[in-house]
Amino acid sequence: VAKMRNLVLVAVILQLALIEGKTENYEFGDIISFERSCPCTDMTYKHFAIYVGDTKLDGKKAGQDIFQRSVDLLITDLLHYIRKLYCIFEKLEDEHKSRSKINIERKDNYFDSVLKPGTKEEIIKRIKEKKGKCGVYNPINNNCEHVATYIRYGERFSLQNGTSFEKKFQEIDKARAAKKNMKAKLLEIKTEMECLICRHKKG
Ligand SMILES: *[C@@H]1O[C@H](CO)[C@@H](O)[C@H](O)[C@H]1NC(C)=O
Repeated sequence: VAKMRNLVLVAVILQLALIEGKTENYEFGDIISFERSCPCTDMTYKHFAIYVGDTKLDGKKAGQDIFQRSVDLLITDLLHYIRKLYCIFEKLEDEHKSRSKINIERKDNYFDSVLKPGTKEEIIKRIKEKKGKCGVYNPINNNCEHVATYIRYGERFSLQNGTSFEKKFQEIDKARAAKKNMKAKLLEIKTEMECLICRHKKG
């Protein structure tokens, strides 16, 4: 019984540590990824944001602690949907309310071992550059991951690593490098966007 109690205690402590660590672990400029599931398929994709914490920045309101290409799910038609995918400051806690069945959040500075992250000044400059004007959303060339990697590293990438779209993004990269088959690959891809549209339809 004592052993059992100890186990439970350890579990509780671990859990507390996990919950507490969640936001306190982030530093300015960290990439946060949210692995999410599509509501009408088993596919997964990753949403990305940049942690900015309580650093004072132009246009950032109290409580807003992330910068991201936001997804507005209440828009009624595709064109408006696309236009509303602005890059703005928002609250991390709102991302915890995602309706996705899976929503695995983690610090995801995945190119730190090969690329130098920008300084705080550089990151602030890139946020200013992208705020409200990060171009038309495109799941393949200009998605939330491109924005996050640009802000942190100054270079745009989308790997969708560990998701249902990972292989497709690798194929697109290869096709792009070889400068051929691009069109076929683009037609072939089942995109993050399809997933989001589906989510939208389901309300
Ligand atoms: C991709 O994900 C795998 C685990 O699924 C991990 O080992 C690898 O480091 C990741 N690569 C990048 C670039 O994030």
